[in-house]
Amino acid sequence: GDANRTDDTDVLVVGNGIAGCSAALAAARDGASVFLVTKATRPENAATYRAQGGIAVTRDAPESLRTDVLRASANTANPDAIDVLVENANDAVHDVLIDTLGIPFDGNGDGFDYGTEAAHSEARILHVDASTGRHLLGPFCSHLHSHPRVTIREDTAVLSLLTHEGCVHGATLERDGETWETYAGATILATGGVGALYGTTTNPDSATGDGIAMAALAGAETADMAYVQFHPTAYAGADSFLVSEAVRGEGAVLRNADGDRFMPEYHPDAELAPRDIVARAVQRERDRTGEVTLDATPLDFSGRFPGLAEKCNDRGIPHDAIPVGPSEHFLCGGIAVDDRGRTTLDRLFAVGECARTGVHGANRLASTGLLEGLVWGLRAGEAAVGFDAESIESPTLLDSDPSLPSEFIENKFFRLRRVMDECVGLCRTPGDLRRAAATLRRLKGEIDAYVRTRTSRELYELRSASVVALLVARDALEAEPVGCHHVSEGRLEGEIRAD
Ligand code: SIN
Repeated sequence: GDANRTDDTDVLVVGNGIAGCSAALAAARDGASVFLVTKATRPENAATYRAQGGIAVTRDAPESLRTDVLRASANTANPDAIDVLVENANDAVHDVLIDTLGIPFDGNGDGFDYGTEAAHSEARILHVDASTGRHLLGPFCSHLHSHPRVTIREDTAVLSLLTHEGCVHGATLERDGETWETYAGATILATGGVGALYGTTTNPDSATGDGIAMAALAGAETADMAYVQFHPTAYAGADSFLVSEAVRGEGAVLRNADGDRFMPEYHPDAELAPRDIVARAVQRERDRTGEVTLDATPLDFSGRFPGLAEKCNDRGIPHDAIPVGPSEHFLCGGIAVDDRGRTTLDRLFAVGECARTGVHGANRLASTGLLEGLVWGLRAGEAAVGFDAESIESPTLLDSDPSLPSEFIENKFFRLRRVMDECVGLCRTPGDLRRAAATLRRLKGEIDAYVRTRTSRELYELRSASVVALLVARDALEAEPVGCHHVSEGRLEGEIRAD
């Protein structure tokens, strides 16, 4: 590290999505100095920016959101965690998103235009057409940029946590090949998901699971890593994009290559069945008939979803037959945390997708991802205030070696994704999972050998991906096969839960 460089701070936040921004806001409001680092160069690089559907709130009967979250999770979510989510939803949304940031949620003078998505028993989703994340994150980042107690450093990666006797004292950061230590009273990880582990994902490329890997390497517990959620309807073509569940919420239907609407055969709620069920049905119909398309003509597609309609028009995709397929979307598990985002290590917090709060269990309900990031971000930000930064003896990292060939990283990533796609994807078999765990263990060993001799951001991202992939595969060998963790004996005979 560079001894001249110090960014010592009360609270170090890693990540610039809604969870990291909320944590930074709450800590700064409580008087802490906050240093927010992100390897992204713009808000566009955060998964939050891509969020389409919106953010769920509670309406007249909060009980019904509680029930829907639990039911979508196949009764595997933690009821206490759901209570935290539901009881804090409206205050958090009003305080931060409406009063502080002034997000222009769709609606008219009489109230909000609440949206509907799969497995929601009532319309309760606040949105800005289907580009809610973009409208939310730009103002959030601007607000923090102008906050006197918040410093934001972009294009800055976190390589590892500084730990001493089970307590985290900050992190080793990297920018432009230079590394240094930042000491913090508390450290909050908000690094998002693991889409980069799969061939198709709705996440940004940067979703390599860095926070989860660093926390695990430092000794923090993880949980529910097997529960990787696939979104049923991403555009199945080059330059893929998410086709929001809200489009099905408004009446769009799925058809196979024979032109048959198939979802009613799989589940009584048809296109609005829980996400894991729709995703597997879509995959099965693709395998069986060659293609699945979404027909968005039962609704006013261009009027209600102008951004998506434009994306289709740009690519010449007809609105009555948008080719779709499942795509990795959200990790329901992650770093195990309590109701304030505390991990099992002292002064280390985790919020947002990298955290496992218990709210999602084995399958997340649509439009609860932003809400969880907001609610737990605020709660962790408050809980992280009050510790002083202390310097500790830290390991010396090797100087970066620019001679590491980029093909090395690409080849290893290619192998890793192939294993995850083939063996740890939407449908899994015990044999495939065992083979995947063995292959990933070897791959991680090969990567670790390089990490011992070189420091580069890409190599650390690859290392993070290999650590997290192995956590997912190992957990999948043991986890209860429920929700998005579907295990069957034969590869293509996956049975689809239809209850
Ligand atoms: C979507 O718009 O379909 C995504 C909503 C979500 O993942 O919560």
